[in-house]
Amino acid sequence: MSTVWKSVKRNKLKEGGFYINIHQASPLELKDSGFDGKFYDINRALTPSIRMTISSTNTPAVQADDEWSPLKAVIVGRAGRACFPAAHPEMIKATMPTEHVHRFIPKNPFPKDIIEKAEAELDFLAAILKAEGVRVYRPLSGIDWIAEGGYTGAMPRDGLISVGNTLIEAPFAWSCRSREIKLAYSQMLRQLAEEDENARIVYRSAETFADTLINEPQDEKDQWVINNSRPAFDAADFMRFGSTIIGQYSHVTNQAGVEYLRSHLPVGYHVEMLNVNDPHAMHIDATILPLREGLLVYHPYKVTEDALRAHKVLANWNLVPFPFIPQAPEWPPLYMTSAWLPLNALVLDGERVIVEASDERTIKFYGELGMKCIKCPFKHVNSIGGSFHCATVDLVRG
Ligand code: ARG
Repeated sequence: MSTVWKSVKRNKLKEGGFYINIHQASPLELKDSGFDGKFYDINRALTPSIRMTISSTNTPAVQADDEWSPLKAVIVGRAGRACFPAAHPEMIKATMPTEHVHRFIPKNPFPKDIIEKAEAELDFLAAILKAEGVRVYRPLSGIDWIAEGGYTGAMPRDGLISVGNTLIEAPFAWSCRSREIKLAYSQMLRQLAEEDENARIVYRSAETFADTLINEPQDEKDQWVINNSRPAFDAADFMRFGSTIIGQYSHVTNQAGVEYLRSHLPVGYHVEMLNVNDPHAMHIDATILPLREGLLVYHPYKVTEDALRAHKVLANWNLVPFPFIPQAPEWPPLYMTSAWLPLNALVLDGERVIVEASDERTIKFYGELGMKCIKCPFKHVNSIGGSFHCATVDLVRG
């Protein structure tokens, strides 16, 4: 009986309760179930034992609170007509590789060839994940980010974080990214909420759109480009370790943003801030990488073992410094990041990890740590902003 109910779609009712759409299940599976394919109010139409079967087999749409439990459902981004983001010049100076700063002209497109190949790499990643048994969700395709004054839809990790059953939209500090989730992802978010009545989607609140974050002129003494005048964080400044979420302050994440995140977490979760030595900090996911429970690889110039071990959840972990300095390829250029993207891998389940196909040194190193590396070409995605962790959002793990 239980296989019937796995594919049954539940539709929320305004008055509470929900209907189920029997059409979603195959006729064969439904043969003996006695239903005729209409909508039913489940609370009235079903016997208690069938109700129990449904609730125990209904797979969640959002349920993840670490970086390594078996990945069951994931979002994979799409580049769209991507361009250099029109961020504030001080922000670009603080966070972007110096050799490319002159290219950050509003609406200046990334080279067409790079975008086409990045899009193909993202499709390839989605295909690999499906083949590995992961449910894959994709945003709208072909968005013209140049016309929208944006950046790209290829980096959803920056804009969404799942914690338990809750998916939180980040209050981006960069105003050119403020409509990214709405434009490319809102249709998907609605679908997730429809698929799982327990999924909680937290859209960013109106106060977080205030354009007050950057002081003019900037004060040289300030550590970060943004002030604390409204909540700001990028979701990629946080990593989940069960009930503990470890984050960093950065040029895009302020104290008010951390408080905002705390206020939206489900009960039982808390945020701790890691002491990171990175004057250019933006996104923690090329600084630390948990490969499985008990094993974490870190960027030894940005973070110390002591700083990591100070967090109770990591106190007994094996903490391994990344053993060499990663080299950027000659082409395509890394327009938006450092070369430390090997730390931006995507762990499938503590045994399998997705790694850039040509990165033999990293493949060897993770192999020595007991991981099976799945190779995926990703240099063109790397070029426009990040690697496998950036380009995905885990929805369900465990
Ligand atoms: N700022 C990091 C670095 O340059 C890159 C992090 C990329 N992460 C992301 N989520 N977009 O090393």
